[in-house]
Amino acid sequence: MHRRAPPPRLRRRRHHGRRAHARLARARPRAPALGRRARGARPRPPAGDARRRTRRNRQPRGLLLHSRSCELPGAVTRILHIADLHFGREDERLVAALAEEAERLAPDVIVAAGDLTTFGRRREFAACRALFERFSAPVVASPGNHDVPYANMFSRLVSPWGRFHHRMGDTVAPRYRDHQIAVESFETARGAQWRLDWSLGKARPDQAREVARRLAAHGGRETLRVVACHHPLVAPGGLTGRAKTKYGAAAADVFIQGGADLVLTGHMHQVFALVERWDGHSCWFVGASTALSRRTRDEPAGFNVLDVDDHHFSMHVHVATPEGGFVRSETRRLDRAEAELVPEHPGEPGI
Ligand SMILES: [Fe+2]
Ligand SMILES: [Fe+2]
Repeated sequence: MHRRAPPPRLRRRRHHGRRAHARLARARPRAPALGRRARGARPRPPAGDARRRTRRNRQPRGLLLHSRSCELPGAVTRILHIADLHFGREDERLVAALAEEAERLAPDVIVAAGDLTTFGRRREFAACRALFERFSAPVVASPGNHDVPYANMFSRLVSPWGRFHHRMGDTVAPRYRDHQIAVESFETARGAQWRLDWSLGKARPDQAREVARRLAAHGGRETLRVVACHHPLVAPGGLTGRAKTKYGAAAADVFIQGGADLVLTGHMHQVFALVERWDGHSCWFVGASTALSRRTRDEPAGFNVLDVDDHHFSMHVHVATPEGGFVRSETRRLDRAEAELVPEHPGEPGI
């Protein structure tokens, strides 16, 4: 009997160690230098799936970007990467600080990588929605394991994300598009699973293929392709412990082969940046700390800002201060082509 040959296994060059395995945390806080990083003007994006907000329309981003482009040339796309906000256990001082930082940093898009709430309660979603309504930038959100209605087993089984979508409404979107970037959310959280720990992630490779196809359909290789999901698909130390995302490695392979540039995740409450390569293409897997929660693990609360140009991702890690604000703790430059970390130049201005 003729048997079909198995597909060639993806050969990956894993980059662990000092050069490419960047665990970015616990760095000495540094006062941010405000407004010195220039970003170029971009054409006004076409109508995408992420809805334009009323406030955003009142204050056109084009004007803001144009004024920056007058200072320095060079097109940079900025992503604000937040995760694990955990409303219900939030530090209210950090909520106000995050709203201010989001306004000051003026990202092109905000990626909220799940666990917006603690128990999926209505009042927790309402508090999160109130914050997102203050953002000028569109938010692409992917639900996390804490965003299911924890106490309602029927809803968990029948419609685990019904409350998430109903309560967050048009403050979040599953995708975003403009002339430089395409972002797609990818669900890894489940309302129930055939294993004891339902908080762990479970990816669906067929859904990953569909997400990769949509990203590729938006534009050529010059378009930045970003995946937003809650659970890690690649993690420091591998997919073990809390990072045990079922079929996570298979989904990661799909994204790497499909040409994704960035996969932004949460759940671990840990900042990291790991790279995988396939056929000369690099895909960075980036984790963020908890943005607002008072229940931190080994790392302080914080978020990431990613400035993307043709050659690098500049990853600015921001951490919470005891006073209830955020400061930039460090910046790492992730090389898009060489799959290496490039140390920040000592004299380079921060954000
Ligand atoms: Fe979380
Ligand atoms: Fe989680």
